[in-house]
Amino acid sequence: MTQDELKQAVAQAAADYVAEHLPEGAILGVGTGSTANLFIAALAPIKHRLGGAVASSEATRQRLEALGIPVVDMNDVERLSIYVDGADEIDSGMSMIKGGGGAQTREKIVAAGADTFVCIADASKRVPVLGRFPLPVEVIPMATRQVARQLAALGGTPKLREGFTTDNGNVILDVHGLSITDPLATETAINQMVGVVTNGLFAARGADLLLLGTETGVQRFSRTGQ
Ligand code: A5P
Repeated sequence: MTQDELKQAVAQAAADYVAEHLPEGAILGVGTGSTANLFIAALAPIKHRLGGAVASSEATRQRLEALGIPVVDMNDVERLSIYVDGADEIDSGMSMIKGGGGAQTREKIVAAGADTFVCIADASKRVPVLGRFPLPVEVIPMATRQVARQLAALGGTPKLREGFTTDNGNVILDVHGLSITDPLATETAINQMVGVVTNGLFAARGADLLLLGTETGVQRFSRTGQ
């Protein structure tokens, strides 16, 4: 199977999960990226069951609205029961690197407001140690140089994502060459750097359920092991 076919399979599995577990009329949290885009398309047959969706990016908002799913502001939602999103890497502890599309800040906000984070990914995303994928760090522009120096002191090589501005008006430093053996410690350390808005490590709030697209079908992994 191609990578796109594996993504398509997990997107459909996530839509089936939503159909089964999201209460009728409830608001769904929706992520960003190519796998999330396939998930949005797979929502079409069940969109009448949704009360609406919270979008983790402007791109996702546009796709949801094009499908006729009302987009709700996060501030108007008490709590989401389900958030579905992709990942750039995920380890066996359900910690992730996200932000390949530069949307990790809003993704982290929506994930923090959700009871269940369902990660959808093809098998290539599952790794023993996070860090081969460059870690995206959203930074307020005036702090770029000083944050880059601190990221280099952690052992990485930060590179400014050229020509890219986040939905929040900031820049992204992609940190190459990290081997992240303690994702929570690294996430916490980078969050302490003044001028960092959010880094793409999702360890404090990892995935609860992973739907992984493999050659032998969609495999399910749960944070609780069930
Ligand atoms: C967006 O900023 C990212 O966090 C994406 O969720 C992540 O990069 C996965 O994207 P793909 O599904 O396109 O691989």
